[in-house]
Amino acid sequence: MARGAAFLGSEVAIMAGAMSWISERNLVSAMSNAGGFGVIACGAMTPALLDAEIAATKALTARPFGVNLITMHPDLMELIAVCAKHRVGHVVLAGGLPPAGSLDAIKASGAKLICFAPALALAKKLIRSGVDALVIEGMEAGGHIGPVSTSVLAQEMLPEIADQLPVFVAGGIGRGEAMAGYLEMGAAGVQLGTRFVCATECIAHPAFKKAFIRASAREAIASVQIDPRLPVIPVRALKNVGTESFTAKQREVANLLDAGTIAMGEAQLQIEHYWAGALRRAVIDGDVEGGSLMAGQSVGMVRKEEPLADIIATLIDEASTALERRSAAH
Ligand SMILES: Cc1cc2nc3c(=O)[nH]c(=O)nc-3n(C[C@H](O)[C@H](O)[C@H](O)COP(=O)(O)O)c2cc1C
Repeated sequence: MARGAAFLGSEVAIMAGAMSWISERNLVSAMSNAGGFGVIACGAMTPALLDAEIAATKALTARPFGVNLITMHPDLMELIAVCAKHRVGHVVLAGGLPPAGSLDAIKASGAKLICFAPALALAKKLIRSGVDALVIEGMEAGGHIGPVSTSVLAQEMLPEIADQLPVFVAGGIGRGEAMAGYLEMGAAGVQLGTRFVCATECIAHPAFKKAFIRASAREAIASVQIDPRLPVIPVRALKNVGTESFTAKQREVANLLDAGTIAMGEAQLQIEHYWAGALRRAVIDGDVEGGSLMAGQSVGMVRKEEPLADIIATLIDEASTALERRSAAH
């Protein structure tokens, strides 16, 4: 993990992937204080809110943490300026290729830029454009997902790119043995989300955490696209009444598209606003029936609420034992 940890400035190369409404000052500072690397989820935050969140996080930890920005945010350049003002060391850009000017602005601020690479060709393109590290995330993950599994992405991409820049593997990691496996394949580190939701320091509503503790892997299902004309990015979440509401929402937006009331860009934005609102209702208000319980398949390995430092210690212990076992066998 030394390479990934040196890149992040943390003790261990485990990132807590940004989770909207969840990855705020408390979880992020706890993660960095525990020796890992926390990432603030900017999501739909305004520049003023992000400014306040970074300042509050800095008050809780002296260690490095990152900020996750979404490429389609209308104020992206202002958000980058807020990160620059605070000298944030690492910016994670999610939601597609960096829009014109954003990559240069992030690098000019002195921050390291981490992007998501959903396929090998895109990874190579991102490397050419000068990104500093990549996350490859499989469809086992919670939240918005791509179509390919983590194990296949890792096999396809790590041998080709892992020697060029640090690559962090995400999606479906619940135990240290899996982390060890990806490290052996060339990953510089890993990113987990679902496993950290039930950390004591996480502000998610007790009902949200309870749903995670009760759930098994097969309940974390990907949303389906009901209308081929309206491409929606699938979202993995625990099945509930909200799952059905999303089908209804898609129908409503598809009808507006048909009627010519809205254009495709607006249609997709409405879908994203739906998710942000539904996740907030579940995470903050505790509406675990009607809200969105975004969760990855590793949710079955979340068994109790415990301090973040304990989760990190368990993961490291499992990874070390696995690696020692393997080297002893040789
Ligand atoms: C509740 C939830 C919310 C998430 N929100 C975001 C987000 O706002 N931005 C983002 O880039 N990734 C988001 N993710 C993905 C995580 O950052 C991380 O990559 C993912 O959880 C890793 O896979 P895992 O859940 O299998 O550990 C979210 C995941 C979850 C479970």
